Amino acid sequence: MNYEDLMLRVIKKAGQFKYTTKPNPVVGAIIFKENEVISEGYHEMYGGNHAEINAIEEAQKHHGKKFQDFSELTLLCTLEPCSHVGKTGSCAEFIVQAGFKKIIIGAIDPNPKVLGRGIKILKDNKVDVEIGLYEDLIEKQNKFFFYKHKNNKPYITVKIASSLDGKSHYNNNKKTFITSESSRNDVQLIRAKYDAILTGGNTLRNDNPKMNARVNFSVNQAKKILLTQKPFDKNLNFFKNASVDIFKITNLNKIINSYQKSEICSILVESGPKLVNAFLNEGIVNELIIYTSEKELGKKGINWFDKDNAVESYGFKLESTCKIDTDTKEIFIKDE
Ligand SMILES: NC(=O)c1ccc[n+]([C@@H]2O[C@H](COP(=O)([O-])OP(=O)(O)OC[C@H]3O[C@@H](n4cnc5c(N)ncnc54)[C@H](OP(=O)(O)O)[C@@H]3O)[C@@H](O)[C@H]2O)c1
Repeated sequence: MNYEDLMLRVIKKAGQFKYTTKPNPVVGAIIFKENEVISEGYHEMYGGNHAEINAIEEAQKHHGKKFQDFSELTLLCTLEPCSHVGKTGSCAEFIVQAGFKKIIIGAIDPNPKVLGRGIKILKDNKVDVEIGLYEDLIEKQNKFFFYKHKNNKPYITVKIASSLDGKSHYNNNKKTFITSESSRNDVQLIRAKYDAILTGGNTLRNDNPKMNARVNFSVNQAKKILLTQKPFDKNLNFFKNASVDIFKITNLNKIINSYQKSEICSILVESGPKLVNAFLNEGIVNELIIYTSEKELGKKGINWFDKDNAVESYGFKLESTCKIDTDTKEIFIKDE
């Protein structure tokens, strides 16, 4: 069988589960014998079976019919099988016990709990292991997971809506809709991708935002993070059906570093200018998404930035731009 074709097939299918596996990576596995595919398996939801286990359990249904012994079969998976016993058992041990003699792995798992240990278990048990096939695609597919483990910190994106004259809101402590309904729907899709959504005390109190992903498909809703030293009403929308971490400190590096050992791989910051500028000044933002409307707020509006070329001076480069109704959406990335 053509390994490239099989790998592309499982990478593509694994992607279908990205909203329900997060903050875990998406993983796909396929089991084949000579020119026949025996089974496929995917990591479909957080806390559920890993892809290899699902593929092996599926293959077991054909035991004695399509094959007599697992040693006749080859297992191909996008990510290195895990070595640690977490919510499920160690996949590498399970593969050895099943009796496989050959395995093809797309990319090494960057999680320090694994990072080659799964491969070692396989090799120590005389399984023939081939490593490295479309690693770039697998890393791209699991961008936040790889970033977190390679850099030991979550990927941080700031999302803002700006008027044409660069303002965030009116100076009246009231919620201001700047962008179109289509842009706000687009924001729902962005929220669906992130592991956590962070805001500040003023946005919480002034806007009473829900900040969940209101989409028409299954999604693991993001953890919420609130930074405030002042009192707030626990009945506000932000707290409904959500797990919320509240920080009374203002040291952003300390707050972000507290997620080093957690499963959170990505954080979306949705706040007003004070917190957004504090994040940008710390230099800890990887991506900036700006929706700009044709509307102007004028003199009563609060500026997002003090300088005209703030985004570029923080080191961001324009990655993409598109129109959403009459709004413009721009994505800026900072090279590390
Ligand atoms: N256009 C948009 O995209 C958009 C998005 C969100 C919000 N907004 C608007 O923004 C307004 C609020 O903006 P804002 O700039 O006044 O407030 P903000 O950025 O939403 O929140 C600032 C608050 O965050 C807390 N904080 C904790 N650590 C901080 C740090 N290191 N630096 C700065 N703040 C820190 C403090 O809360 P405590 O004072 O409670 O301790 C601070 O007052 C809202 O009224 C909302 O309408 C606009």
